Amino acid sequence: MADGSGTQNEQAVFPVPSSIAEHAHVDNERYLEMYKASIADPEAFWGEAGKRLDWSKPYTKVKDVSFDQSDLHIRWYEDGELNVSYNCIDRHLETRGEQAAIIWEGDDPNQSKTVTYHQLHEHVCRFANVLKKLGVKKGDRVTIYMPMIIEASYAMLACARIGAVHSIVFGGFSPEALAGRVNDCDSEYIITADEGVRGGKNVPLKKNVDEALKHAFGVKKVLVVENTGTQVAMKGGRDVWWHEAAAGVDEFCDPEPMNAEDPLFILYTSGSTGKPKGVLHTSGGYLVWASMTHEYVFDYKDGEVYWCTADVGWVTGHSYIVYGPLANGATTLMFEGVPSYPDASRFWQVVDKHNVNIFYTAPTAIRALMREGEAPVKKTSRKSLRVLGSVGEPINPEAWLWYYNVVGEGRCPIVDTWWQTETGGIMITPLPGATDLKPGSASKPFFGINPILVDADGKELEGAVDGNLCITDSWPGQMRTVFGDHERFFQTYFSTYPGRYFTGDGARRDEDGYFWITGRVDDVINVSGHRMGTAEVESALVAHDSVSEAAVVGYPHDIKGQGIYAYVTLISGVEPSDEIKKELINWVRSEIGPIASPDLLQFAPGLPKTRSGKIMRRILRKIAENDYGSLGDTSTLAEPEVVDELIENRQNR
Ligand code: WTA
Repeated sequence: MADGSGTQNEQAVFPVPSSIAEHAHVDNERYLEMYKASIADPEAFWGEAGKRLDWSKPYTKVKDVSFDQSDLHIRWYEDGELNVSYNCIDRHLETRGEQAAIIWEGDDPNQSKTVTYHQLHEHVCRFANVLKKLGVKKGDRVTIYMPMIIEASYAMLACARIGAVHSIVFGGFSPEALAGRVNDCDSEYIITADEGVRGGKNVPLKKNVDEALKHAFGVKKVLVVENTGTQVAMKGGRDVWWHEAAAGVDEFCDPEPMNAEDPLFILYTSGSTGKPKGVLHTSGGYLVWASMTHEYVFDYKDGEVYWCTADVGWVTGHSYIVYGPLANGATTLMFEGVPSYPDASRFWQVVDKHNVNIFYTAPTAIRALMREGEAPVKKTSRKSLRVLGSVGEPINPEAWLWYYNVVGEGRCPIVDTWWQTETGGIMITPLPGATDLKPGSASKPFFGINPILVDADGKELEGAVDGNLCITDSWPGQMRTVFGDHERFFQTYFSTYPGRYFTGDGARRDEDGYFWITGRVDDVINVSGHRMGTAEVESALVAHDSVSEAAVVGYPHDIKGQGIYAYVTLISGVEPSDEIKKELINWVRSEIGPIASPDLLQFAPGLPKTRSGKIMRRILRKIAENDYGSLGDTSTLAEPEVVDELIENRQNR
């Protein structure tokens, strides 16, 4: 494992406490029964599961799927009609109109607010009417570039209400990255705020939009929510203040009936090649998946307070702050801040303040807090906590045990949930009342998921073994296409192992059939739980005038999981220096965003290449890992001596 703590932790098993199993939605027996049924007869299982939503026109067909190149299509509930915002709001009004739908906790600990389902209905309807007033129509793409203010959730639900397709761009992305995503989906509308605030620092969102729009020409309207009140430039005819547009709009807006397969959102994610892909999710199947996983994986019970610490700019925020919980009539907490502000106790203070029962975060946050010691945790009560969750990257057993023992005081099961932007929701995970836990293992598949391990040739491997993780059949939450590029959808996910969905992850299955995700097997790295394509960082680097060539790899990083290591060859005439190094790191920040900044940058007079000119990343990875003793075969290198030079000047000692 990542922390090298060895087999002792891996063998540790934490049985389901009977107190949890007794009251859980499913115990192990029931899990096995349901799982078996879901695999034996998906049509029957998902036909029944689809009834958890309210359909304005019930479906008669459940599943129509082919993973073949000539006919690649994925359809669930295809003749049904529903509206996602109706399912997340309106249908709860009668029974839980006065219940808290969203508790919003500000970056500033003195700021929080609670919005009931009734209030949410009014806010979202108003927001939807503002969008209509601006000219947004069903099927239009709307880019949302917002901080974690409550209006971000209104904006999402308002799009869903009128049938517009939202594309959220994480507020930490640069103007360049924003422009690329706006152009890729021909988005004519952007929703933003004057500024965001995180960890006490202001983020100039509107200014970034202005910058982006120098490279994105199709945008007709920019809707700006006033947040910090700072002065921002407003371009006449294009930029509209939300509060001005909202004055006098109706507080009711009929939900647009949507086909189950009408798009709900696009979310850009990094792959091993090329530009980020617009992952497209549709309405019916996605919501069935998000809501069902939310209920079972977190064992959510009516009246509980549930908190997922993600940002709505990532898929975790889509499925597990907004859509899944609200479809279930849950109380979901939305947090604007960061774990370390004002101090390392913040998460647990928020847990106590709002009596959070279920808490879902990323291993990188746990590792960062672990470094601060137990005191910031211990000074809080955390008695309300019942279930803990982890997502985004493998959780090393050491961090798992700290989370379990220190945060959860040995009382709360941890659900280590493996999934991807592409899968729409959780795929491999323990269920609190059903699954004995092994620290570091995502454990067992959710209903309907048949994960297999294959070797490089696609041969299915049996028993306890390591391999490439594939899923054999579709599930309702699966992405439907890459926006505007169906061929790329096929090439990326279905061409490597025909007939199967290839995840890009490696995994090990142990003797008990538990899955242990080992990480990406492609050129994607996972930095603090955020996916980054090495090719993206490379192309940002070579876009700089002084760079002739660049290669980027990941290396193990104590807090981030993986760090970004960049090898850069400068053009002749430019000498390596600390100044140019700093300039290049800042350049990548401004091209993509702070999350893409190289942690280590090494100047390389030459990169190791094969005689045919292909960069040998395996060698670069080893050097970055400081593991140059095991470089393997270097005999195919065109110039073996460049390797000695690289080792000599490696940054990661
Ligand atoms: C990794 C985030 C190990 C994995 C929801 C996957 C994980 C990528 C886990 C998707 C986990 C996510 N254990 N690895 N519990 N969860 N991953 O699209 O490599 O941002 O392919 O979706 O994160 O990242 P994405």
